[in-house]
Amino acid sequence: MAEAAGPPLRILVLNQIAAKGLQRLPAGSYVTGKDVAEPDAVLVRSADMHGMDIPASVRAIARAGAGTNNIPVQAMSARGVPVFTAPGANANAVKEMVLAGMLMAARQLAPAQRFVAQLDPAAPDLEQQIEAGKKDFAGVELAGQTLGVIGLGRVGCLVADAAIKLGMEVLGYDPEITVDAAWSLPSQVRRAASVEQVLKGADFVSLHVPLVDATRGLVGAANVGAMRPGAVLLNFSRQGVADDAAVLAALDARQLAWYVCDFPNAAILRHPRVIALPHLGASTREAEENCAVMVAEQLRDYLEHGNIANAVNFPGMAMARESHWRVAIANANVPNMLGQISTTMAHAGLNIHNMANKSRGDMAYTLVDVDSPVGTGVLDALAAIEGVLAVRYLPHRGS
Ligand code: MLT
Repeated sequence: MAEAAGPPLRILVLNQIAAKGLQRLPAGSYVTGKDVAEPDAVLVRSADMHGMDIPASVRAIARAGAGTNNIPVQAMSARGVPVFTAPGANANAVKEMVLAGMLMAARQLAPAQRFVAQLDPAAPDLEQQIEAGKKDFAGVELAGQTLGVIGLGRVGCLVADAAIKLGMEVLGYDPEITVDAAWSLPSQVRRAASVEQVLKGADFVSLHVPLVDATRGLVGAANVGAMRPGAVLLNFSRQGVADDAAVLAALDARQLAWYVCDFPNAAILRHPRVIALPHLGASTREAEENCAVMVAEQLRDYLEHGNIANAVNFPGMAMARESHWRVAIANANVPNMLGQISTTMAHAGLNIHNMANKSRGDMAYTLVDVDSPVGTGVLDALAAIEGVLAVRYLPHRGS
């Protein structure tokens, strides 16, 4: 009765992905690489997929990171293609970078390092020059300062917790905080009612929101002036969340002391009080491995069993395998889809063994286990139902 495991699944890998993650897609069952044609899925880190001709064969996209602004999520949803991420897998790395950024700004480490680097190592009075120069780089301590955290997801919560441990006051703002995040926040974190309240009340402000229409220019001309004179703004979320022109104007007016930014561009690159880093927040060995392993496992479970965890555009779904033959259907979240799906299967003489259906916004997802093999005619009939976006046949591959 059992069918062959099928040809290896083909994964197009657009960026360097940690080997530990790729090992979760074992050779024999998977072909992975940057030149894979007709891929079943795409594994990506920061490559920009907007404007890319994503092959029709693609059934899933897996991002080894948290944000999805480099992926055309809406277009993928219309094709019934889930976009997986690795929420939290790199949060500690980003948290540590925020701490480094705060310390760099507070202790003037960037200009101090530039000062030392331009000294003449052969100068006979080198030591005196070093000692004389240090007066220009006196800083402040973090303990006792107030940190404002805008966005209390996994990174924001870790940053808030670390800042409390460093003796800082923390003011947090997130109108959409999840119950889990709220529980994980230290009780000392004070809750702000608006972005403006954070900007007014903090010496350091760290942004931890995704880039979406609602967060574009979240700190901009309209509100940057509310920041405390000499405040430090940190952006380890995405370029565009802070408006570059407004930030530069605030730096030039000495409203802002420093802008620490992981997303430099031509406009801000050379400003003496911009600490610009090349999108390094999640670039640690640990974070890269965590992300790669997490998305590779999610991708594998989806490709082989149809289960979904951490897709940004699909509901979560996990159905234990009780039958060899499984069909996965992505469809519009409209009435009578389940009725049509089960009727189509019944007309083909298929007995439904188990079925699960979940929805999220406009997207619905259905897994159906049946007691006998499913022919292409039934799959075509399911695909032809109005509102069905994608149909996959998933006979057990034996893993
Ligand atoms: C993220 O979205 O988590 C980061 O951008 C990941 C990365 O640096 O690749």
